Amino acid sequence: METPDILERGNWGSKIAFIFAASGSAIGLGSIWRFPIMVGLNGGAIFVFCYILSVFFIGFTVMLAELTIGRHSQKNLVGAMKFIKPGTPWKGVGFMGIITGICILSYYSVVAGWAAGYLYKTIKGAFMGEFTWEASDAVFKKFAADPMAVLIFLFLILVITTFVISKGVKIGIERWSKILMPVLFILIIILSLRAVTLPGSGTGLSFYLKPDFSGFNLNVLFFAVGQAFFSLSLGMGTMTVYGSYITKKDNLISSAGWVCFSTTLVALLAGIIIFPTLFHSLQLTPEQFKQDFEVSTGLMFQAFPVIISKMPGGYIFGIMFFSLLLIAALTSTISMLEVPTSYLVDEKKWKRKNAAILIGIIAFVLGIPSALSNGGVKFLTKLNFMTIMDLIFGNITLALGGVLISLFLAYSWKVRNSLNEISIGSKRFKLKSLWTFNIKYLAPVVVTLILIFIIIKNII
Ligand code: PHE
Repeated sequence: METPDILERGNWGSKIAFIFAASGSAIGLGSIWRFPIMVGLNGGAIFVFCYILSVFFIGFTVMLAELTIGRHSQKNLVGAMKFIKPGTPWKGVGFMGIITGICILSYYSVVAGWAAGYLYKTIKGAFMGEFTWEASDAVFKKFAADPMAVLIFLFLILVITTFVISKGVKIGIERWSKILMPVLFILIIILSLRAVTLPGSGTGLSFYLKPDFSGFNLNVLFFAVGQAFFSLSLGMGTMTVYGSYITKKDNLISSAGWVCFSTTLVALLAGIIIFPTLFHSLQLTPEQFKQDFEVSTGLMFQAFPVIISKMPGGYIFGIMFFSLLLIAALTSTISMLEVPTSYLVDEKKWKRKNAAILIGIIAFVLGIPSALSNGGVKFLTKLNFMTIMDLIFGNITLALGGVLISLFLAYSWKVRNSLNEISIGSKRFKLKSLWTFNIKYLAPVVVTLILIFIIIKNII
């Protein structure tokens, strides 16, 4: 039987359910896999410092903007822009978000597939006993270069994602996130406690947490801003769609605050696990790290088997960790697929199931070169295909989307109208003037300048 459209949308059961679902979208491989890589590539603590500032000043600002646009319009980003400013080209920002979402989904699912593969390996007992960094590195390289394995796991991830999305947002996402996110959180805290008690962990911690301001440059800031957008699922309409399911009773400001806070905390803890483990295992100094260590897309997959092997009950820990990582990744892939799907359902009146399947297939095809680019097949370019996709869609178009969403809210819809929407469900907005300044000037100007700098530097 067909479900009428109106039933296909639905609301979150409560504010807390929304926070879990939105954090479920935000917390994922972005915080646990991508953030440490960015830290490693961009000078350590100075990157962490820029990332925290970016989340506070830009991430929170755009998060609240997206939630507000979503709840006001009760639509996806394309629909919302058409609803608020009909007949204007603003809806193009929504289309850019849809393309970005599909492209990120394609390579993100490859990494989620690695997590699935690692769960399988852990269950089979591949990481038992004392496990060195070198051994772990060899396991990763072999696995990522096995074309059959990575493609099968990529396929599996997209099938699960498509299945959940085709069932509709409420039963799909809410149920999973509510139970599992807190468990992941506890597990990460336990692992980070183990990591900081390793001998020699101090060097890793100081690389990670003691900023060397001489290492600052605009590249670091660019990647920090990009990471803030990526990890908070901003700039492509995910939070707009999620906001469209929030009820008028709920407080948008504190919801946005909680999602930013919990995501940043998980990212920071992931680094606390990975860097002490790395510096301890390879007995590195920060200078040696900068000179000799090659940070690869496999950083997280190299580090976790090592730290897990150092836990009492490591086998069970490993299974729990990789299961939860997989689920965290799935709650994020689900939110990516929700963006194009809700567009086709709401605007084009497609059936949810058909929309989800079509986009799932496109993401799979697009994901193949990324899946094979980590050693499986030699490509013409020297750069890794996945890295290029991530640079374009994980940094540039997300940040550009964030700029355009800010400009849309501030200058087309107008700040005072959005403040009216925000005030429904939240009595006081303490940071009102700061947010107004940020959405009108800081976020669009700073991010635009950084984007221009990067484009000039790399292309011209
Ligand atoms: N925020 C997710 C993560 O960190 C990734 C994501 C990006 C999800 C953009 C949706 C949209 O894992």
